[in-house]
Amino acid sequence: MTTNLTETDDFIRSTIHEGFRPRVGIILGSGLSGICDGMDVISHLDYRDIPHFPVSTVDSHKGVLSLGFLGGAAVAVLQGRFHYYEGYSAENVVYPVRILRQLGAEILLLTNACGGLNPQFRAGEIMLMDDHINLQWANPLIGRNTDQNRFVDMCNPYSERLATLAEHTALANGITLRKGTYLAVSGSNYETRAELRFMRKIGADVVGMSSVPETLIARQLRMEVLGLSLITNECRPDAPRQVSHAEVIETAAKAEQNLRALVHDILRVC
Ligand code: HPA
Repeated sequence: MTTNLTETDDFIRSTIHEGFRPRVGIILGSGLSGICDGMDVISHLDYRDIPHFPVSTVDSHKGVLSLGFLGGAAVAVLQGRFHYYEGYSAENVVYPVRILRQLGAEILLLTNACGGLNPQFRAGEIMLMDDHINLQWANPLIGRNTDQNRFVDMCNPYSERLATLAEHTALANGITLRKGTYLAVSGSNYETRAELRFMRKIGADVVGMSSVPETLIARQLRMEVLGLSLITNECRPDAPRQVSHAEVIETAAKAEQNLRALVHDILRVC
């Protein structure tokens, strides 16, 4: 482990009691911080106070790490993630995942906001990430490798066990849960019509600007990954309309309740 990781880990551990070990690490996407409402918080840390932690620059991202219990599970929740479009290096984008693993997390639960490419998907619905396409032109696995696992297998990046749990939970709660492929771009522009047509053609169901780098590192660190994407806007190349960050945040806020119910119930049984 690098010195930085050790110092970050030591600092976070100094704010919790020794026996506390988060089993699930959660990263919350744009406008989705309400998912941790009702959390029994043990430690609440501003990113700015955590040694070597990058600081989130997107307004809708809070920049807080909370440790405690949610839905009965011991969790570490990151409210605010780091994106390539903010100018962070690949190393910084995935730094929180390394920390979550270091703290003891075996499961990584990712949430994100995305645009729906699949014409059957509606804004406000949730999609279970079944697979992904990485078009970010960046990869956090590139570089000097201190981990043993250099060539990370990607034939099944998202845990089938957790996906099945999520599907059962959605059914029990009467929540529509789509399943599909997430395509990651670096952003921060939204897509052109030609890009949207291309993305549909190559098999993507939704498009977003995050989550894939985190999944890559989580799989390298042998964590189980569950990805839940909230569709905030419908991408229609043949009936285009402007997308705005404000709209993305507004739809995320409206639909967050379903995602919260789903996450809390998954945590009860995972
Ligand atoms: N494209 C890319 N990222 C997004 C979108 C989109 O349409 N909506 C929310 N995140």
